[in-house]
Amino acid sequence: MAKSNSFSCNACGASFNKWSGRCDACGAWNTIVEEAPLSAGPASKTLGGKRGSPIKLTDLATEEAPPPRTNSGISELDRVLGGGLVPSSAILVGGDPGIGKSTLLLQAAARFAQAGLKTIYVSGEEASAQVRMRAQRLGLGDAPVQLAAATNLRDILTTLETEKPQLAVIDSIQTMWADNVESAPGSVSQVRAAAHELTNFAKRRDMSVILVGHVTKDGQIAGPRVVEHMVDTVLYFEGERGHQFRILRAVKNRFGPADEIGVFEMTGSGLAEVLNPSALFLSERGEPSPGSVVFAGVEGTRPLLVEFQALVAPSPHSQPRRSVVGWDGGRLAMILAVLEARCGIPFTGLDVYLNVAGGMKVTEPAADLAVAAALLSAREDAALPKETVIFGEISLSGALRPVSQTENRLKEAQKLGFTAAIAPSGGKPGGDSGMKLTRMGDLTAFVGEIFGAG
Ligand code: TYD
Ligand code: MG
Repeated sequence: MAKSNSFSCNACGASFNKWSGRCDACGAWNTIVEEAPLSAGPASKTLGGKRGSPIKLTDLATEEAPPPRTNSGISELDRVLGGGLVPSSAILVGGDPGIGKSTLLLQAAARFAQAGLKTIYVSGEEASAQVRMRAQRLGLGDAPVQLAAATNLRDILTTLETEKPQLAVIDSIQTMWADNVESAPGSVSQVRAAAHELTNFAKRRDMSVILVGHVTKDGQIAGPRVVEHMVDTVLYFEGERGHQFRILRAVKNRFGPADEIGVFEMTGSGLAEVLNPSALFLSERGEPSPGSVVFAGVEGTRPLLVEFQALVAPSPHSQPRRSVVGWDGGRLAMILAVLEARCGIPFTGLDVYLNVAGGMKVTEPAADLAVAAALLSAREDAALPKETVIFGEISLSGALRPVSQTENRLKEAQKLGFTAAIAPSGGKPGGDSGMKLTRMGDLTAFVGEIFGAG
């Protein structure tokens, strides 16, 4: 076996034939580790040591009814999965340690078991007694879930083979250990081998598998990114420390729309569903204040209102600060540049802080106009009307671009008591939501309309 590719990056999984301090593929530092060379062929071939059997071939025209999905009854989870759990699917749930992955999956396992799926929950991190105690605290003590505390992949696969569950939860993939791979648990080769075996097993044995994966910022634990391409669905469980909200976000889904989110709240008795997240994210809004703007957004198939807050203050530094929480810093720089170049409103010498209330992360470019409005409102120290929502994408020329789902955005805003909206010209009609809709073609017109001469 050639000695090539015996180093790999813990952060992105790229392979190298020599060590270096920085990964050429993803730019991360100190993430390259030595690995045992990959054996020829997939690890599964070496596991049983047996000859393979012929695979069954079918043609495209063969009609097979899609297998029924199972709903957990946790609607925020079912929607993110694309409408329930698909049989024989492999799902990866990633997230920072302590964010609530084990809690979510224990609750999900219990609900799927109650819905009739034979379910096994394997914990490589906690003792069965600990998991059982948590289940009791969550009020799920009598759910028909089988528990195990194990890390040896061979033992786990053998058990799954005899027990034949319809769903197995593996918490976490970093603790699993395949004895045919010569490296420590948590290394890229172990994580890759364990994920490969488990997803393969799931496909062959009509079992769905949910893998938990820890992601750390410093890349010390093998990120589940090497696993992402092996599974059908990748969900990220995210949230800000100090906030109760947790967001389950689909970033890849072979069985449903990606970008779908589910919103949960961490309570004393586990994760509770948040069925009306807009109300939750806006709940702390008081009187209109400068710098605060409500953005009518869309996450996946669902409209979601969030509040942008901006603060603009004279800077004591030669290099003014630009600080963003919950939105993209590069996009903020772009909007500041457009405001300066196209509308003649400079932010030189001013510190700019931008925050999305409630710990939500917004990725839609449709938030551009709301961000610009928040920045202007903060800079002019003038509050916008409280009952107005704003959305629209800004192009580098300063033109406003129409965005999708205008009608949905307006309906949600109206439901929450807003009466007016500002949106780009063009695009689809807004429907008959009863909202007063003002449409504008470019940023200069917007500035003139809202803040007089600017
Ligand atoms: P956990 O599910 O163990 O996180 P992960 O598996 O992602 O590492 O959740 C850990 C946190 O959740 C812990 O700090 C305590 C909190 N928590 C609650 O607030 N309420 C609860 O009912 C439970 C079970 C946990
Ligand atoms: Mg855990």
